[in-house]
Amino acid sequence: MTAKRNILVTGGLGFIGSHTVLCLNEAGYNPIIIDNLHNSKIEVLDALEELLGYRPVFVQGDVNDDALINGLFVTHRPEAVIHFAAHKAVGESVDNPLMYYQNNVVGLITLLAAMKAQDCSKMVFSSSCTVYGEPETVPVKESTPTRPAASPYGATKQMAEVILKDNNWCEVQCLRYFNPVGAHPTAKIGELPLGVPNNLIPYLTQTVAGIREKLTVYGGDYHTADGTCIRDYIHVMDLAEAHVAAIDRLFTSQRIQKVLEGDPSTDSFEVFNIGTGVGYSVLEVINAFEKATGERVNYSVGNRRAGDVVAVWADTEKVNQVLGWSAKRDLATMMKDAWNWQKNC
Ligand code: UFG
Repeated sequence: MTAKRNILVTGGLGFIGSHTVLCLNEAGYNPIIIDNLHNSKIEVLDALEELLGYRPVFVQGDVNDDALINGLFVTHRPEAVIHFAAHKAVGESVDNPLMYYQNNVVGLITLLAAMKAQDCSKMVFSSSCTVYGEPETVPVKESTPTRPAASPYGATKQMAEVILKDNNWCEVQCLRYFNPVGAHPTAKIGELPLGVPNNLIPYLTQTVAGIREKLTVYGGDYHTADGTCIRDYIHVMDLAEAHVAAIDRLFTSQRIQKVLEGDPSTDSFEVFNIGTGVGYSVLEVINAFEKATGERVNYSVGNRRAGDVVAVWADTEKVNQVLGWSAKRDLATMMKDAWNWQKNC
C-alpha cells in the first residue's frame, strides 16, 4: 500500500476547511490542519475526530508565522496546500483594511515563501465570485473581466490571484466560490459565525431559532423578477468535493508532464467557478427554507444594503469539463442541512 499524500489545510477548522478535511480523508489523502482559531473553535477538531474515527494532525497557529509554517513543512512534508485561512467579512474589511491586507495578502506571501523554500509547489486557493463585482452579463464565465473591488476584502482576493499568477513556479487551482451554505448531513459541523451574522443563511436560521427577532431582506426594488437580489448558493459539501477534484488534478501525471515540458497550453494558474450554475432570489431562498423545513421565517423587506450586486451566478461549463466536477445537492438539501446544524448548535 502506498503512503497517503499529506495535504496542508490552512484554516482547516473553518466552515469550508472542516468539510474539506472530511472529503480529503474520504478520497485517501491525509489532511494536516493549521488554524489560528480566529474564526473557528477547537470543538470542531473533536467533531472531526468523531467523523473521521481518528484525531487529525492539528497545529494551532497563524500563516503569518513563518518559523511555524517552515517547521510544518519540515515535519509533515505536505505535497500540496489548500489555503483557506483568510478573513472574509466585507464590512469588517472596510472598518479594518490593514487587518485584511496583513492576513489575506501578507499571510499568502509568507506561505508561498515557505512553500518555495521547502519545495512544495501545488496549491488550491480560495477565491471568490466577488472578483467579478457587478457583472454586465450573467452567468459569469472565468474569462469574464474582473471589476474594481468594492471592498478591501474583495481587493485582497484580486491581489492574491495576481500574486499566484505571477509565481508561476507554483501550480495553482484557484476556486472562485459563489455563496457557500448548508452543513454536513450529520449536523456535527457547519458554519459558526462570530457575533451577529452578515450572511443570509446564518441570519435566517438564527431568526427561526429565536436568536434574532426578524430577518431583513435587503431591498425589494431591484430589477429582478421578485425585486430581490439573486445569488448562486452552493452546498458546502459540494464545495468541499470541488477541492478534492482540484487536488486530484494537481497530481495527475499527464498534467505534470505537460508542465515539466513547458507546454504553453498548460497554465500554472487555473481558475474555476465553483457554483451550481443556478441563481435564486432572496425570497426564493426563504420560500425554499420554509418548504424544506416546515418552519416559518419572520422577515420583512427593508432597504438595500450598500455594496450588494444585483445578480450573479456561475457559468459552470469549464469546471464541469476540465475538473470533472459538478454540484449535486439542491437548494432544499442546503436549507434542510443548514437548519439541522442550527438546531444542533
Ligand atoms: N441578505 C439579506 N439579508 C441578510 C443578509 C443577506 O437580504 O440579513 C441578502 C443580500 O442582500 C444578498 C444575499 O442575501 O442579496 C446574499 O448575501 P450574503 O451576505 O449571504 O452573501 P453575499 O452575496 O453578499 O457575499 C458576500 C461576499 C462574498 C463572500 C460572501 C461570504 O460578497 O465575497 O459574502 O462571506 F464570499
